Amino acid sequence: MSQGSLFIITGTSKGIGRALLTQLLLESTSRVIGVSRTNTEVTHPNYQHISCDLTDFEGMENCLEKIFPDGEFESIVLINNAGWIGEIAHMGNLSNQSIRQIFEVNTIAPAIMMNAFVKKHTQMKGAKRIVVNVSSGAASKSLDGWSGYSASKSALNMLTQTAQTEADLNQNGIRFFAVAPGVVDTEMQLEIRNASSTDFSSLPKFIGLKENNQLSSPEYAADKILYLIKNAEKFEGVIQDVRDF
Ligand SMILES: NC(=O)c1ccc[n+]([C@@H]2O[C@H](COP(=O)([O-])OP(=O)(O)OC[C@H]3O[C@@H](n4cnc5c(N)ncnc54)[C@H](OP(=O)(O)O)[C@@H]3O)[C@@H](O)[C@H]2O)c1
Repeated sequence: MSQGSLFIITGTSKGIGRALLTQLLLESTSRVIGVSRTNTEVTHPNYQHISCDLTDFEGMENCLEKIFPDGEFESIVLINNAGWIGEIAHMGNLSNQSIRQIFEVNTIAPAIMMNAFVKKHTQMKGAKRIVVNVSSGAASKSLDGWSGYSASKSALNMLTQTAQTEADLNQNGIRFFAVAPGVVDTEMQLEIRNASSTDFSSLPKFIGLKENNQLSSPEYAADKILYLIKNAEKFEGVIQDVRDF
């Protein structure tokens, strides 16, 4: 028997991922599996948390069976939301570890999750199947101090576009989106404001956005992402920005 909707969301411990989780648990037909390093204090019959570091590939591989459970669902949605701004510094001042880590979290982990999703669900043509990768406007902008962040999100956009090209060729019916959530008042923005202006010349702009209440709320970004998912047929193209709808 069909069990309603299944949402698999990375980064549910805080920020946009946490807001997505809260909205979805208000819907009695949505089952949610959340993945992040920190456990959430959420106890709800429809929620299962999987504690996993997305930079620990061995650990992640061991979790994939739990992250992608068997079952019949009307819709199955993967939201690769977990992300990291990275070490904010100019080339020459970055640690090698942080260079590796940002691509692991923002690009490689979503690619592994997409690969597992397509492998598992390619034949389930009776179910609506959607992958949303939370990207960034920075994917197509170069800001000093953000080389790894911009490049990792740019690569994520291209992974998403290629996955859609393949889904179209294979006629498996899966929809893929990479969506920029806007500038959102989360801990990631706090990390950005804590950067030094020598590492990041746009620092005054980001401080000003906060001071002038120009950041959107995680709940607003989550609402927009869920609107995209629920109205996927109205959207053409893979690359989306919540500021456009
Ligand atoms: N906030 C913005 O203005 C903004 C703008 C553009 C794009 N975005 C994108 O939106 C997404 C959500 O960002 P946010 O602002 O909500 O950030 P956030 O508040 O910092 O939350 C990030 C989430 O990612 C998880 N995460 C980070 N590293 C992880 C790892 N190694 N393994 C597992 N989980 C990990 C964190 O969980 P744990 O720490 O518990 O592991 C947390 O739940 C990101 O992809 C970000 O790039 C945000």
